[in-house]
Amino acid sequence: MTARAWDIVLFGATGFTGALVAEYLAQHAPADLRIALAGRNRGKLEAVKRGLPDGGARFGLLLGDSGDPASLRAIAEQTRVLCTTVGPYAKYGLPVVEACARAGTHYCDLTGEPQFMRRAIDLADSMAQASGARIVHTCGFDSIPSDLGLLTLHEFVKAQGASGQFKRVTLAVTNMKGGFSGGTVASLLHGIEEATADRSVRRLMGDPYALSPDRAKEADLGRQRDLASVRYDDFLGTWTAPFVMASVNTRVVRRSNALLGYPYGREVDYREVTALRDGVKGLAFGAAMTAGMGALVASQVFGPTKKLVQRLLPSPGEGPDKAARDAGFFRFRIEAETIEGQRMHAKVVGTSDPGYGETAKMLGHAAMCLAQDEAKLPKRAGVLTPATAMGMALVERLRGAGMTFDAFPTAR
Ligand SMILES: NC(=O)c1ccc[n+]([C@@H]2O[C@H](COP(=O)([O-])OP(=O)(O)OC[C@H]3O[C@@H](n4cnc5c(N)ncnc54)[C@H](OP(=O)(O)O)[C@@H]3O)[C@@H](O)[C@H]2O)c1
Repeated sequence: MTARAWDIVLFGATGFTGALVAEYLAQHAPADLRIALAGRNRGKLEAVKRGLPDGGARFGLLLGDSGDPASLRAIAEQTRVLCTTVGPYAKYGLPVVEACARAGTHYCDLTGEPQFMRRAIDLADSMAQASGARIVHTCGFDSIPSDLGLLTLHEFVKAQGASGQFKRVTLAVTNMKGGFSGGTVASLLHGIEEATADRSVRRLMGDPYALSPDRAKEADLGRQRDLASVRYDDFLGTWTAPFVMASVNTRVVRRSNALLGYPYGREVDYREVTALRDGVKGLAFGAAMTAGMGALVASQVFGPTKKLVQRLLPSPGEGPDKAARDAGFFRFRIEAETIEGQRMHAKVVGTSDPGYGETAKMLGHAAMCLAQDEAKLPKRAGVLTPATAMGMALVERLRGAGMTFDAFPTAR
C-alpha cells in the first residue's frame, strides 16, 4: 500500500452509532494512530469532534457523500482503513465498498443486510482480491459473536487433538438486554421493503448459502430454515424461540466455513436460536417475542399499518441512552457435537448494550486490527468475514477489551 495520510477514516461519524465508535476510538486508539472522521456535513462533524474525550482532539475531518463517487474515491485513496456506519447499507453502501476495493483500502462495516453483502461480493470480491483490500462486513453484534465464537470453539476442539469438524452446532442466546437505534430500524424496514417488492431478494434471504463463494459446491442439507416458532430443542435440552439475527449470522458463518475450505465440516448443521427459561414465563416470553417479530414484518407489508408503526419506532440519529447502554449485555452459548461424537461448547459474553456499547467496541477493534495487526492476519483479500479477515487476532483484541470468548468440553 502506498503512503497514505490516515490509518483509519470513520465514515458516518455524525450518526448515532458512528458517534459511539468515534468516542471508543478517542478513548482506546493509540496516540500514533492517524484517525479522521468523515461525513457529509462539516458542521455536524465539528460538533461530534467537540464532544469527544481528549484523544479525539487530534482527529482530522473529511467531507464525503455516498452519492458522490469522486468524494468516496478521494477518501478511500487517503486512508489505509475505511470504517463505515453509513446505513442502510443496501441504500448507501455499495459505492463505498467499490471505492475501497479499487483503491486497495481495507474496509469494515456494521451491515446486517444479506442482499447488500451479496451485491458487494458480486461487484467487488475479485476487484478487492486484485488490489489486496480486505472488505469485511458484519463487524458488530451481527455477526462477530457468532463468527468468532465458532472459530474459537473450532480452535479449542483442534487443540484437544480432534479434527475440528462438527456434525451439528447450535448457538443459543441464553440472556440478552439491549435496544435499537433509528438506523437499525431503517435498515430493517428497507430490507422488508426490498423483499416485498422483489422476489429475487426474497429468494436470496431464504437461501441458507446466500453468501456462499460458490453456491453449486455447497452440500445439500435441505432448506435449513431458521427457527420461526417456539419449539423444544432435544440437542440443547430446552425450549427455544427464534433469534432475530439468525438469518444473517448463519449465512456469515457458512461463508466463513466455505472461504476457509470447510474446516467446520462440509455437512455441518449450523443454527441460531433463543434459549427460553424453564416454566410458563419462559414459554410466554418466547411466544410473545415470536408474535412481535411476525407482527412487525406484517405491519410493513400491509399499507395502512406501515406509517403508524414507523411513527412508534426510533428515527435516524436516535438510540438507547448511556444508562440503557450501560445496563445492556448479552450471553451466548454455542453448543456443538463434533464428528468424533464429543460435545463441546463456547461462551461469548458482552457486558454492555449488544448493538451499541459492544458494537462500538467490536467495530472500533476491527478497524484497529485491520490497521495495526497486518502481520498477525491470515493472508487473504476480497470480500471477507470477521473470521476469515482477522480471525483469532480480533478475538485476542476483544478479550483484552473485556469480552469473553471461551471454549470448554460439555459435561454430560
Ligand atoms: N450490526 C449491528 O450490530 C449494528 C449496530 C448498530 C447499527 N448498525 C447499523 O449501522 C447503520 C447506522 O445506524 P445508526 O443508528 O447509527 O444510523 P443513523 O444514526 O441514522 O446514522 C446514519 C449515518 O449515515 C450518514 N448518511 C446518511 N446518508 C448519507 C450519505 N448519502 N452520505 C454520507 N453519509 C450519509 C448520516 O449522516 P448525517 O448525520 O449527515 O445524516 C449518519 O452519519 C445502520 O445500517 C444500522 O443497521 C448495525
